[in-house]
Amino acid sequence: MQLKDKTVVITGVSKGIGLALALQYLDEGAKVAGLGRNKPEIEHDNFHFIKTDVRSSSEVSEAFIALDNHWGKQIHIMVNNAGLGYFDPIEDVDLDQLHQMFETNVYSIFYTSKAVVPQMKSQQYGHIFNIASTAGIEAYPQVSAYCGSKFAVKAISGSMYKELRDHRIKVTCVYPGSVKTDFFRNTPNIDPHDYMLMPEDVAEMIVHASKTPDNFHQVNLEVRPLQPKGPKN
Ligand SMILES: NC(=O)c1ccc[n+]([C@@H]2O[C@H](COP(=O)([O-])OP(=O)(O)OC[C@H]3O[C@@H](n4cnc5c(N)ncnc54)[C@H](OP(=O)(O)O)[C@@H]3O)[C@@H](O)[C@H]2O)c1
Repeated sequence: MQLKDKTVVITGVSKGIGLALALQYLDEGAKVAGLGRNKPEIEHDNFHFIKTDVRSSSEVSEAFIALDNHWGKQIHIMVNNAGLGYFDPIEDVDLDQLHQMFETNVYSIFYTSKAVVPQMKSQQYGHIFNIASTAGIEAYPQVSAYCGSKFAVKAISGSMYKELRDHRIKVTCVYPGSVKTDFFRNTPNIDPHDYMLMPEDVAEMIVHASKTPDNFHQVNLEVRPLQPKGPKN
């Protein structure tokens, strides 16, 4: 599918994978709406930022009304990217941070789906990407809350895929390993480094998946650094 003039909505575009995605979709000629708390430094006629905290269902639904007024009701691609993680031993998990992770990483998918799925069903076309993590495939110690949220994203994505395929809507769950972004600001014992994946490469994979033929569906995209600690010798 050509991306020129298609409308793409991405949550969390201020930095990291979301910012890389916005720039690459714009390069493909798509119109990009970014929903987030902080506006990125993107100056482009085809970029529209709507200030939104994705933890708020009302802010998300208002953002889609604003987008409808701006570009009309036709969203082709939805990327649920906004997310964050805090890593702690189970007994030390801070309850505010726990809620923040589930509200951002999990609940926001339901909020955006309420807006985009009815519209994608009526146009009989759409592609939804949910950004999970390899922490949504395997559990790690001290990562219970984040893993729990990303396992939830995996399950939700599986349901969405089976529910929406007959409406010609693709749902792809993306499972990146460690990516060199600001994600690790809340985990003082992990520093981003050059043997992690690069956000631009993860974005390129997602943009590529957006262009596949209508009857070709990548259900899960798991991607990891080949040598996450660098060469052995
Ligand atoms: N980096 C990794 O190693 C890694 C690995 C696997 C999966 N992931 C997942 O990939 C996604 C993107 O993460 P990243 O690595 O690009 O991290 P990042 O650089 O920290 O970017 C996260 C983005 O999410 C936005 N965001 C967070 N809370 C939000 C909220 N309440 N409302 C709106 N936007 C919000 C942030 O915007 P503001 O804070 O500016 O509002 C930012 O734009 C996340 O879902 C993350 O869990 C990351």
